[in-house]
Amino acid sequence: MSVILVTGGSGLVGKAIQYVIETEPEGSRFGKKPGETWVFAGSADGDLRDQAQTKKLFEKYKPTHVIHLAALVGGLFANMKYKLDFLRDNVLINDNVLHTSHLTGVKKVISCLSTCVYPDKVEYPLDETKIHLGLPHDSNFGYAYAKRMVDVSNHAYKDQFGHNFTSAIPTNVFGPHDNYDLESAHVIPGLVHKCYLAKKNGTPFVVGGTGKPLRQFIYSQDLAKLFIWMLRNYDDVEPLILSVDETEEVSIKQVADAIVKAVGFEGEYTFDTARADGQFRKPASNKKLLSLVGDFQFTPFEQALDESVKWFLENYDTARTGKQQ
Ligand SMILES: NC(=O)c1ccc[n+]([C@@H]2O[C@H](COP(=O)([O-])OP(=O)(O)OC[C@H]3O[C@@H](n4cnc5c(N)ncnc54)[C@H](OP(=O)(O)O)[C@@H]3O)[C@@H](O)[C@H]2O)c1
Repeated sequence: MSVILVTGGSGLVGKAIQYVIETEPEGSRFGKKPGETWVFAGSADGDLRDQAQTKKLFEKYKPTHVIHLAALVGGLFANMKYKLDFLRDNVLINDNVLHTSHLTGVKKVISCLSTCVYPDKVEYPLDETKIHLGLPHDSNFGYAYAKRMVDVSNHAYKDQFGHNFTSAIPTNVFGPHDNYDLESAHVIPGLVHKCYLAKKNGTPFVVGGTGKPLRQFIYSQDLAKLFIWMLRNYDDVEPLILSVDETEEVSIKQVADAIVKAVGFEGEYTFDTARADGQFRKPASNKKLLSLVGDFQFTPFEQALDESVKWFLENYDTARTGKQQ
């Protein structure tokens, strides 16, 4: 019998894991196994910045395994403006989850890092050995150092207690249940929301920057399957990058084109080249993942984007859109 607690279970990645567990055939590779109970916890179930609430959550569900996704997450603007919040909230959440897991005898914890926590100046492609090789970018050092400490903690728990605590490193994630608030959204949900508003209000759809930068995007449902696979098969303390191949990079223009198509937007569509582009590429290698995972099919980007936009259009009233109309 095992109880798998997914912290951050109400977010983009957590909802995708719940969807996969509930829709894949029981007993199949990514489906629920006999004897498994899955618990998806959001912040309403307990504020993980608080030690007592964390303990209460663990006492209630008695998890044997934890997929730890809960985090204060945000785009560039939010990261730059609230550096101390990103540092402190995430340090507290991570320490409470890992230490409570330790105290209650949880057998395995997979925490979630991000390719955003890598050094600003580093040789590309990123791989699992380069997380600590230099300072993070100044814009998100709070988030980056809090996340890097998870890897440090995992090693300390392993060295001192022999625990099976590890971490996954996804690239940019998108999918249903994303954060579409224009103040804090990542690039895909931000552009989806902007395009939707442009169509609704009959205004131009303006994409910030030249559209040339390249990024690796992973569909939340593919990422969910990889988390489930990791839970069952990956027992090393060293982190694992969960990403599509470097050859699958797409440009921001390709992203915007696909959004225009999926939203059915037919108005004026331009690029504001006065806006900064950010880094041109920050490729991450998925070699280690591919050497371990066996047969795994990533959803083609356009199909995944289409499904995500469809979800947004159907759930606009309840989606996390912030105050913009
Ligand atoms: N999105 C990406 O592109 C991306 C890329 C790489 C890595 N990641 C990582 O993936 C993980 C999941 O991210 P996501 O995109 O799914 O984020 P998300 O949609 O913003 O969800 C965040 C989750 O964390 C929960 N949470 C936040 N503060 C909490 C607190 N104090 N106590 C308890 N729960 C709290 C939220 O609960 P409520 O919603 O109920 O408040 C929500 O379930 C994070 O660790 C993130 O760093 C994300």
